[in-house]
Amino acid sequence: MAIKKKGLIMVASVTGNTYRVAKAFGKAFENVGWEYDLVKIDKNTNFKKDPVYFDDYDFVCLGSPIMAGLPAPAIGRVLGLTQPEPPRMWKGAMMPGMPSGDVDPNDVKGVVFATYAGAIREAYSTLAVEKQYLECLGLKIVGEFSCPGGEISHMAVDRVSAIMGVQVENAAPLVQLYKENPHAPEFAKLDEEGHKKMQEAVADPRDMPDYEGMEHFIAPKYDLENRPNDRDLLMAEYFMQNLIQDFFFNRKKPQETYGEYLCIG
Ligand SMILES: Cc1cc2nc3c(=O)[nH]c(=O)nc-3n(C[C@H](O)[C@H](O)[C@H](O)COP(=O)(O)O)c2cc1C
Repeated sequence: MAIKKKGLIMVASVTGNTYRVAKAFGKAFENVGWEYDLVKIDKNTNFKKDPVYFDDYDFVCLGSPIMAGLPAPAIGRVLGLTQPEPPRMWKGAMMPGMPSGDVDPNDVKGVVFATYAGAIREAYSTLAVEKQYLECLGLKIVGEFSCPGGEISHMAVDRVSAIMGVQVENAAPLVQLYKENPHAPEFAKLDEEGHKKMQEAVADPRDMPDYEGMEHFIAPKYDLENRPNDRDLLMAEYFMQNLIQDFFFNRKKPQETYGEYLCIG
């Protein structure tokens, strides 16, 4: 009996948008009868302590929100290229991007994805950086996907970052958490004045106006608060399913091919 094929989806997600796209990819794996693992990348992820090996998979996906024009900083930290001793992503590897020889890295396909709220063109740079990370780790990238994702106010994130004394990337989840539960342990150190400031900060209106003359650069706000919507998620599912089927089901001989879906609005 053939060994069951398997996908890996690694995703960074602060407010859940990119995670929803990751779940849509997961559905694509299920649709074709594959198993998949979904691994969240955040400040607690440590592949040196809890290894994940690309050898165990046939498809590897990496997704991130765009943060300040680039992937979430956790992606670079966790995938190791900015740390002194990067994790080995292949079993028995001497170097991070050097498979042991048991697996041909060309047999493992890579896909990158991103969600964004502002600039479509920033999706290009984020996807390019994600792609570069995976290529450095020895994977062959065969597709990229991006769609909009509703964002929480930049101003709110900046203000919460100052009040809580944390970096911006760690402030974004705190904005969300404070809205849901101001009495969460994370806010125990706040006094009455601190809570007042936090309430004002998270109540900030959205701060992405429609800039006149910038329509080609800034994503039109088609119901941005509710993105990714059902259509985006369906596109994600079909995009991924199409790639899996084209590489593993429909081809007698491997062919050079590349899938790309970049939503325009
Ligand atoms: C701190 C921060 C910085 C962001 N920077 C950008 C940016 O430079 N360009 C952009 O298009 N979107 C930016 N966004 C919006 C997010 O990329 C977008 O809302 C994304 O869907 C969030 O994904 P998540 O819910 O998976 O975290 C930023 C969001 C936050 C919280």
